[in-house]
Parts: sequence; structure tokens; C-alpha cells
Amino acid sequence: MAERGKRAEPRGQLLITETDPKSPASEAYRTLRTNIQFAGLDVPHRSIVVTSSSAGEGKTTTVANFGVVAAQAGSRVCVVDADLRRPALHRIFNLSNARGLTTALVEGLPFAKIAQPTRVPNLSTLTSGPLPPNPAELVGSKRMRELIEGSADDFDLVLFDTPPVISVSDPVALAAQCDGVILVIMSAKIPHNVVRRAAEQIEAVKGRILGVLLNSVNLQRDGYYYDYYRYYHAYYGGDKKR
Ligand SMILES: Nc1ncnc2c1ncn2[C@@H]1O[C@H](COP(=O)(O)OP(=O)(O)OP(=O)(O)O)[C@@H](O)[C@H]1O
Ligand SMILES: [Mg+2]
Repeated sequence: MAERGKRAEPRGQLLITETDPKSPASEAYRTLRTNIQFAGLDVPHRSIVVTSSSAGEGKTTTVANFGVVAAQAGSRVCVVDADLRRPALHRIFNLSNARGLTTALVEGLPFAKIAQPTRVPNLSTLTSGPLPPNPAELVGSKRMRELIEGSADDFDLVLFDTPPVISVSDPVALAAQCDGVILVIMSAKIPHNVVRRAAEQIEAVKGRILGVLLNSVNLQRDGYYYDYYRYYHAYYGGDKKR
């Protein structure tokens, strides 16, 4: 199994939620989905930014697997690659990246017109598209807001993959445009004050942190997609509990 996970697969990287839906990691993604639904009893939470304080904490992995479990549960889901610096979703889903989010922004086209279907029913991916010189400006633009609002006609849930908060302002600019934020934390690696600063930056623009996903890696194993073991803990309700 691990061998298959590691090899360059023609159909893109394998996701544990697709290949091993009964695993504890897949169950954790489903619990995340359920908890986000409960957190949104009043607000529908159609657009959610997934970000982290630092690089490599598992944002892209979370977006892809969360997208899969939400689609498996019957929601119409679009995962959007808003990491306009080091985009990755097109590789995971083995899609062309010739047109994508930046195309939608430049041409003023709805996400649904450019998003591509994936191998997972109900799951579309809007890849990054050509990389622009001014990512933060683009994702913070009025047009972006309009496209996010318009995407509610076509999708129940839109999940945005982003770069880390510590290095660029894009995720904060995008958080200000969306219904909520999930903060991914590679718990063993990241100092608390770095996480706190990221959360404060998001809240300063009235971004709503819906939950925190603690991403722990089982270092006994060596990074195969199949060998992920993920704990997560999410909590809600804003500052007081943070
Ligand atoms: N729970 C996990 N267990 C083991 N490895 C993981 C886990 N989550 C992510 N990884 C691995 O860690 C690396 C970084 O993951 P990922 O690309 O999802 O992070 P990222 O936050 O999107 O990174 P970047 O900031 O570079 O965009 C990848 O090699 C991924 O396979
Ligand atoms: Mg990433």
C-alpha cells in the first residue's frame, strides 16, 4: 500500500480519504466536517479558508481530504488553490493548471465555469491558474469577493488552500472575504506565540476562526500518504476559548 502511495501515480497523489476511508485519519476528517457543520448552524459557512502560521503544516493535505469527505457526504464542493505562490492542488488531482483562479479573476468568470471535475464525484477543483505578480491584491480584491459570493449558486462548500500567514498577507486578505477559517497547526513543530500571532492577524480583519486542526505526524513512519496518523482537535466560539 505504502509503495503505491509513494509512486508517482498517473491519476495524481492518492488521498487517504479516498483509498482508506475506514482509517482513523479518514474518520478524523469526517469528524472535522461534522464539527464545522455544527459550528455553522446559524451561518452556512460556504467559503472556508484553510491556512497555517508557517509552511508545511498540512494545509494542502487538509483541503484535499476535507474536500473529499464533504463531497462523499453529498455536498457540492469546490477546492480552490489560492496558494498563488506554490500551488499544489493541480498535482494532487492530476489536472491542468493552464486556467484557474487567476483566470476567473482576470476574466470575471464564475468559479464553476473554470473549475474542473475530479475523480471524486461532487468534488471540483479550481487550480491556481497562471501565477500573478500581486497575489495578495488579487485575493483581497472586490472581484474576488463577488466571485466567492457567486460561488454559492453552484457549490455548497468552497475550501481555499493558501500560503502560510507568517510569510505573506494573502491568507489574511482572503480570510476577510470568507465565512470562516480553519487554522492547521503542526503541533509538535510550531511555537505557541507564532500560532497566536497568526490567529490575531486573522481576527484583526474580522476573519472568523471556526476551528483549529492539530496535525500530528507519526514520525515512526516515513511520510507515506497511507501512513499519516492525524489527531485533530477543533474548538469554536472565538477568543475566549482560544
Ligand atoms: N498528518 C500528516 N502526517 C504525515 N505527513 C503529513 C501530514 N500532513 C501533511 N503531511 C506531509 O507534510 C508535507 C506538507 O504537507 P502539505 O503540503 O499539506 O502542507 P502545506 O501546509 O500545504 O505546505 P506549504 O506551506 O508548503 O503549502 C507533505 O509532504 C505532506 O505529505
Ligand atoms: Mg500547501
